[in-house]
Amino acid sequence: MKKILVTGGSRGIGLAIAKKLSESGHEVIITGRDPEKLAQVAKEINAAGFIAGDLSEGVNITEKIDVLVNNAGIYEWSPVENIKIEHIEKLIKLNLEVPIELCRLVVPEMKKKRWGRIINIGSISGVVGEANASLYSASKAGLVGLTKSLALELAEYGITVNIINPGWVKTDMTKDFINNEVLETIPQKRYIEPEEIAELVKYLISDVAAGITGQSINLCCGLSLG
Ligand SMILES: NC(=O)c1ccc[n+]([C@@H]2O[C@H](COP(=O)([O-])OP(=O)(O)OC[C@H]3O[C@@H](n4cnc5c(N)ncnc54)[C@H](OP(=O)(O)O)[C@@H]3O)[C@@H](O)[C@H]2O)c1
Repeated sequence: MKKILVTGGSRGIGLAIAKKLSESGHEVIITGRDPEKLAQVAKEINAAGFIAGDLSEGVNITEKIDVLVNNAGIYEWSPVENIKIEHIEKLIKLNLEVPIELCRLVVPEMKKKRWGRIINIGSISGVVGEANASLYSASKAGLVGLTKSLALELAEYGITVNIINPGWVKTDMTKDFINNEVLETIPQKRYIEPEEIAELVKYLISDVAAGITGQSINLCCGLSLG
């Protein structure tokens, strides 16, 4: 049994990951901004606990974490000339700075134990690019660099670091963007289920996946193929 922190575990992809890992017998802690929602979800999925608060306003983790899943993130659709400065700060803070800060906090204990798993949730937009989502794509591409660098740095400590890059998943984040036109652009003509991402996380944190590190894994129904 591992102690696992899933940021943004209150809904969407993070919830599916937290649920899967809790069902697998792990001690899962979820984060989000709404304490009531978190309490309800934590009860439903039998999570070990929750941390409520806006991550971009500060991160305070006192628990010793074995597995960190950096999932919380926001999306912005905007032509580059319309991006507001304050949005750059807000998005880069949550999507990139917070994951770095969390790694900084959890790695010392993982090093001591000589075991750890860090999974970053990126996006296919950070791999192949997305028109009118340059800010978001840049933040997710940054996570790829973080993943590869940390994987190298931590390899000798039994800590693996990987990034999963999903294509389109039906969640609150995408509900205003998903339509038949989008569906037509996806080679498999379907959206990814959050459970598919959760299954991949479950595999990557297992001992049989100990040799997989620094990998940028596209789970995108073929979207990355162009
Ligand atoms: N959906 C897709 O198609 C897709 C595709 C590629 C990558 N992704 C990535 O997958 C991850 C999850 O996306 P999703 O679709 O599941 O999004 P979602 O449904 O919008 O859920 C986002 C989660 O992040 C939390 N969150 C947002 N802002 C926060 C903040 N400032 N502080 C703390 N928590 C915050 C939310 O909690 P509260 O609102 O309760 O605070 C929620 O739990 C993101 O990193 C996203 O970029 C999604």
